[in-house]
Amino acid sequence: MTTVAAEHWEEARNLRLAARLAASGAQPPSLGLAREGVLRRAVGLTLEASGCSAPLGSRCRVETAGGHWVDAEVVGFSGDRTFLMPTADLAGLLPNARVVTTRREGEVAVGEGLLGRVIDSDGVPLDGRGPIRPESWVGLGGVAINPLTREPITRSLDVGVRAINALLPIGRGQRIGLFAGSGVGKSTLLGMMTRYTAADVIVVGLIGERGREVRDFVESTLGEEGLRRSVVVATPADRPPLARLHGALRATAIAEWYRDQGLHVLLLMDSLTRFAHAQREIGLSVGEPPTTRGYPPSVFAKLPQLVERAGNGADGRGSITAFYTVLTEGDDQQEPIADAARAILDGHIVLTRRIADAGQYPAIDVEVSVSRVMQEITDAPWRERIRKLKRLMAAYNAQRDLIAIGAYQRGSDPVVDEALARWPKILEFLGQDVTEASDVEASRAALARLLDDTREPAPATHATTHAQEPAR
Ligand SMILES: Nc1ncnc2c1ncn2[C@@H]1O[C@H](COP(=O)(O)OP(=O)(O)O)[C@@H](O)[C@H]1O
Ligand SMILES: [Mg+2]
Repeated sequence: MTTVAAEHWEEARNLRLAARLAASGAQPPSLGLAREGVLRRAVGLTLEASGCSAPLGSRCRVETAGGHWVDAEVVGFSGDRTFLMPTADLAGLLPNARVVTTRREGEVAVGEGLLGRVIDSDGVPLDGRGPIRPESWVGLGGVAINPLTREPITRSLDVGVRAINALLPIGRGQRIGLFAGSGVGKSTLLGMMTRYTAADVIVVGLIGERGREVRDFVESTLGEEGLRRSVVVATPADRPPLARLHGALRATAIAEWYRDQGLHVLLLMDSLTRFAHAQREIGLSVGEPPTTRGYPPSVFAKLPQLVERAGNGADGRGSITAFYTVLTEGDDQQEPIADAARAILDGHIVLTRRIADAGQYPAIDVEVSVSRVMQEITDAPWRERIRKLKRLMAAYNAQRDLIAIGAYQRGSDPVVDEALARWPKILEFLGQDVTEASDVEASRAALARLLDDTREPAPATHATTHAQEPAR
C-alpha cells in the first residue's frame, strides 16, 4: 500500500514541477541538441531529412561539400521525415549531410535605406551599390489586420494614366489585377505608374521574369526618376520556386513596413501567375494532389493570403494600393489563376492584344475592365459619362467588322453613328504616350470634354477609321 501512495505523491510532484516549468517558459536545453538532423534523400527540388523535428515553415541549413551551407525551409513532413525545399542552388549536396535548424523570425530587413535599391528574395543587393543598413526587422508572413478595423476605401488615387483615372478610378488601398498576355504592355504600364502615381513609396516585386527583363525594367522602364522612390525586389525565373515565393512575400513585407510608418505605398507585383506557378512546383514536389489544371489546393490558399496583406492599414495608418499582373495566355480568361484572382481582387484591368496590335497604347479594354470601388469614389455625373463611353465603345465594337469593310449603313443605329463620329476623339482620349502624365482632374475633364461636346462632330471618313483598325 505504501508504495502506491509514494508513487502517487511523486507523480503529483512531477506534475506540479512540470506546470511551474511551463509557466516560467523555461526551455529544456536538450531541445537545442535535437535540432541537428541528417540528409537522407534529395530528389528534384525536395530534400528529406531525418532527426530534426523542426516546425512547418521554419528554416534549416544543409551542409554541402567544401563546408558551405544551403538555406532551406520546412515545407512538410511524413513520419519522422522532414521535407525541405532550398532557397538557393543545390550544388555540392552530399548524402548524410548535416541539417541544422535555425531560428529566424524577423528576417526581412526594412528601413529608409531600401529606397532606390534593387534586392533579391533574400534581401541581398543586386545593384552593386553596397550594403543596406536595416532599421528594423519584420517577418516574411506579415501580421494580419482585423478586417473590421481596416479603413474603408474612400479616396481616389492618381495613377497618372488617363484611361484608368477617368474610366476605372482606383481607390487608395484597392487591390487590382492587370490581366494580359505577354508583350501587350503590362511592364510599360507599370513603369508609367511608378513614375506618375501620387504615392510616397513604390515597392515593385518582379517574380519569375527572365533576367534580361529585370534589367530592362529597372534601367529603361523605371528609369532614374522611377527608381528614386522605389524599392525593387527581383527574383528571376531561374531561381528556385521557394525563392520566387519569398520574393513576393518580401516585397509585400517591405510595403507593409512603409504603410505602418503612415505612408501611402504603391505595390506592383509582376506577376501573380508566376507566384502561383512557384507554389504549384512546391506543392507538387512534396506530394500534394494536382487538382484544377495541375494546380494543387495550396495555390488557391496562398493567393488570398498574399493579396489580403495589401489594402488600407488599421485606423487610417497608411495604405497599400496594389497592382498584381495576371498572365492570360491566348486570352484565356477561364484560366484557374485568372479566375481565382478575379474573385479575390477589388477590380481588374484587362489589356488586349487586338488593341495593342493596332498600335493603341495603353491597350486597355475599357469594356471588360472593372473597378469595384468606383461607387465610393465617383459622383453621379462622372459615372454617367463612364457608362456612356462604354455604351459607345460597345456599339462600335459590335459593328467593327462591318465598319472596317465599309458595309455599315449610317442611320441604322444612332448609338453606332455617334460612336463612329466620335471614334477618332475616343482613340485620342484613350491613347497616352509613356512620357506623358495625366492626373485625375485632367483625366476627368478630358472625359467630360469628349462626351459633352454637343457640336456635331465632323463625320469621320472610313479612311481614318481604317487607319485605327488592327491590320488583319
Ligand atoms: N505605352 C506604350 N507605348 C508604345 N509602345 C508600347 C507601350 N506599351 C507597350 N509597348 C510596346 O509593347 C512592347 C511590350 O511591352 P511590355 O510592357 O514589355 O509588355 P509585357 O510586360 O506585357 O510583356 C514594348 O516593347 C513596346 O514596344
Ligand atoms: Mg513584362
